[in-house]
Amino acid sequence: MIILAAGSGVRTGYDFNKILLEINGKKVLDYSIDFFKDYEKCHEIILVCSDRDFNYMYERYSKVVAHIILGGDSRQESVYKGLLSAKNSYILIHDSARPFINSNAIDRLLIDLPTSKATTLAVYVTDSIVKTNGNRLGNALDRSKLLSIQTPQAFSRDLLMNAHKKAIKANYLATDDTDLIAKFTTVTPSFVEGDYRSIKLTTKHDVKFLKVIL
Ligand code: CTP
Ligand code: MG
Repeated sequence: MIILAAGSGVRTGYDFNKILLEINGKKVLDYSIDFFKDYEKCHEIILVCSDRDFNYMYERYSKVVAHIILGGDSRQESVYKGLLSAKNSYILIHDSARPFINSNAIDRLLIDLPTSKATTLAVYVTDSIVKTNGNRLGNALDRSKLLSIQTPQAFSRDLLMNAHKKAIKANYLATDDTDLIAKFTTVTPSFVEGDYRSIKLTTKHDVKFLKVIL
């Protein structure tokens, strides 16, 4: 299990990493750590954090997680560094910026994993999505075929490692790992139903929703 916390949360506008914000008495990151440390199918947690937060993370989590490692400049690089410490043949990757975790959804993901080798939680978009050209609208896309990708995502470790190595060679940066599998391997990633409440803390406005949901 790789828990990603190595961003800086620029879009929230806080002067600290957004995943250290406290919501309803608990830090955003704690929601993920607490869930996965008690989830029986999770054998070890690899926490990926930034240079700036390392000492804090070490003091707070070193007894709970197997490894605390430094991430990279991009999310992708942080995942890759986490993968280098991963020993199990299957690996889950989760953005700690998504503190709402539905255990039924995780169960669905793990059921899909052995056959799929690369799978993610996702939900269908609910807004109409339209391509733009400047401030002009183009055609609307078919909403019934559009997904919002969530985390956790789950992979065969070797498959994902292979995809990451190819992406590095190709100088390709993705915002999620299923995209790397689709682009750089012969495996077609799959998805299972996520949860609309699993929003990613991205801007200050998300805090209001999370206060209600968590
Ligand atoms: N992340 C990471 N390493 C990075 C960048 C992001 O581990 N170099 C993690 C974040 O901590 C977060 C998740 O990836 O849990 C999703 O990224 P995002 O929501 O973009 O978080 P930030 O990059 O921190 O936010 P921003 O883009 O607004 O700076
Ligand atoms: Mg980011």
